[in-house]
Amino acid sequence: MIPYTKKYLPKTAKDVVGQKEALKLLTDFITSYKKQKKKAVLSYGPTGIGKTSAVYAIANDNNLEVVEVNASDFRNKEQISMKVGGAVKQMSLFSKGKVILVDEVDGLSGTKDRGGIPEIISILEESTFPIILTATNPWDNKFSSLRKKCMLVQFEPIGIQEITQKLEQICKAENIKYSEDVLKRLARRSAGDLRAAINDIQTLTMLTGSLEKDSLDELGERERTDTIINGLLKIFKTTDPKVALSAFEYVNEDLDQQLLWIDKNLPMEYTKPEDLARAYDKLSKADIFQRRIRRWQHWRFLVYINALITAGIAVSKDKKYDKYVEYKPTDRILKLWWAKQKSMKKKAIAERIAEKTHCSVKSAIKNIDYFQTIFKNNKDMARGIAHQLDLDKEQVAWLSK
Ligand SMILES: Nc1ncnc2c1ncn2[C@@H]1O[C@H](COP(=O)(O)OP(=O)(O)OP(=O)(O)O)[C@@H](O)[C@H]1O
Ligand SMILES: [Mg+2]
Repeated sequence: MIPYTKKYLPKTAKDVVGQKEALKLLTDFITSYKKQKKKAVLSYGPTGIGKTSAVYAIANDNNLEVVEVNASDFRNKEQISMKVGGAVKQMSLFSKGKVILVDEVDGLSGTKDRGGIPEIISILEESTFPIILTATNPWDNKFSSLRKKCMLVQFEPIGIQEITQKLEQICKAENIKYSEDVLKRLARRSAGDLRAAINDIQTLTMLTGSLEKDSLDELGERERTDTIINGLLKIFKTTDPKVALSAFEYVNEDLDQQLLWIDKNLPMEYTKPEDLARAYDKLSKADIFQRRIRRWQHWRFLVYINALITAGIAVSKDKKYDKYVEYKPTDRILKLWWAKQKSMKKKAIAERIAEKTHCSVKSAIKNIDYFQTIFKNNKDMARGIAHQLDLDKEQVAWLSK
């Protein structure tokens, strides 16, 4: 079975969804390369929005051959020179023009000793063919000298409307029954990532051939836990703070959830007491910052929290544990809920007291202890008060326990 992302790969620039501005710049650059001031284009933008496919589509329209070089495939100077340099100088076999695509340069190293970016820059200079580089984050410091040599072309997350249309088109071609509502929800969830949306459609319809609401909910749930578990893996299975630091970058859970997941699974992963103690120390500091944010709205503490719960916890162990642990969601929420239920009961009673004795709810809560003492020790008086305050059975039980 071929993936829909492949089957519906844009063959011509017209098939590329959105990206009007980027397509125009790229086409201009490729077709009138000789006149360009810059030697290369750096296409950038989030993942799954057409950076790679646009190059192929444009090349196809103009009868050009794409020589693709995956930057992360080779890390040293000699290898890059051999592959890219060779392609740059070589005349095309069928005397077709060429486009060099250096895809995903994010992984390249900026330093001299490991080669990479400096080498690409020197290749740009001697190239006789247009070179397109792609990256998700071109603002990294290591790209600063490369950026100067390139024309920057921005790719944007694709709009919900456009994604919905594309999905609809695929559903029709594949004879998939769908409701427009579900398509829209899928599109919204993809956050502009068309590849993700197309993949979702394929997974969801594989068994039933139709797009139902239930299957959509299921996918949402599954993905949420999937990603938080991947986040945990990144933290627990590395001692490199840099790797750990981005663990929750794409995790769709709020901070409370992240803290709870770590809290629940830490003791199963870190079994050496020293490791565990250090890790909990980090977690408790994160908790303190969290409280300060709540109280004083000091949102810049978020950075510290993230550093503590990712890098901090990762470096708390001497070395990583090789065992397999099945990470579990927390049951703390349930406990919090119970605690809240209890405090709500207390508040409800305090409200009755406040109303009858003309005091504030706050001071009624403060004095509720006295009522409890009375209810425990003097049944007659308790009965009278319960009647006066019009308390129900549960409230009386709460006060007498
Ligand atoms: N703008 C688009 N128009 C049409 N199809 C698209 C578009 N963006 C993504 N797709 C679909 O998603 C798949 C992935 O797109 P592509 O490889 O071009 O993304 P990318 O931006 O290069 O992502 P990455 O940064 O992960 O490499 C394509 O095969 C295509 O099916
Ligand atoms: Mg790509």
